Amino acid sequence: MLSDLLKHNREWAAQREAEDPDYFKRLSQLQKPDYLWIGCSDSRVPANVITGLEPGEVFVHRNVANLVHRGDLNLLSVLEFAVETLEVENIIVCGHHGCGGVHAAMDGHRHGIIDHWLQPIRDIASANEGGLARLHDQEEKLDSLCELSIAAQVDSLAKTPIIQSAWRRGKKLNIHGWVYSLNDGLLQDLDCRRSSVDGLHQKLAHRAHYDF
Ligand code: CO
Repeated sequence: MLSDLLKHNREWAAQREAEDPDYFKRLSQLQKPDYLWIGCSDSRVPANVITGLEPGEVFVHRNVANLVHRGDLNLLSVLEFAVETLEVENIIVCGHHGCGGVHAAMDGHRHGIIDHWLQPIRDIASANEGGLARLHDQEEKLDSLCELSIAAQVDSLAKTPIIQSAWRRGKKLNIHGWVYSLNDGLLQDLDCRRSSVDGLHQKLAHRAHYDF
């Protein structure tokens, strides 16, 4: 029931205030999160909940299949604010196994506008056709594609003028690629971090057999 949400909200606010009378006053005066999270819109992957972060601790952008489209004004505005104003030092691109967006990109059906949005996933699948063809389990194939996409989004972010100019000015800024498992609730670092203009592209360590 919708009214339950408002009721829970009142209870939550009262509890926070009881524990710490200055809690909301403090939060309302300053936003200084250490992290920018770029994740999937999937309701089962809420950034704060799965990382144990409190309100004020993570700046969040979510879209279907956690994609970085170069012309996405929404994402670029979030990115610029996070880097230039909030001065976050760590950006996390987080995808998840069993992603409906990755599935929809590859199932061969017409879904509507989302098919345009998901095109980068099909491009990544084409570029990695050889490696993916060696996997026979469809679920494993899609989860591997999901991980390849996360690494590709990390690279896309690294190539944006916002990130490039921050690095050129000597700003400390790491972009990480993580994947979340719906089966056990665990996050895994995919070792595709980018930290500088000249940073070498690190291949996914545990998928080293792929033809990149
Ligand atoms: Co998803």
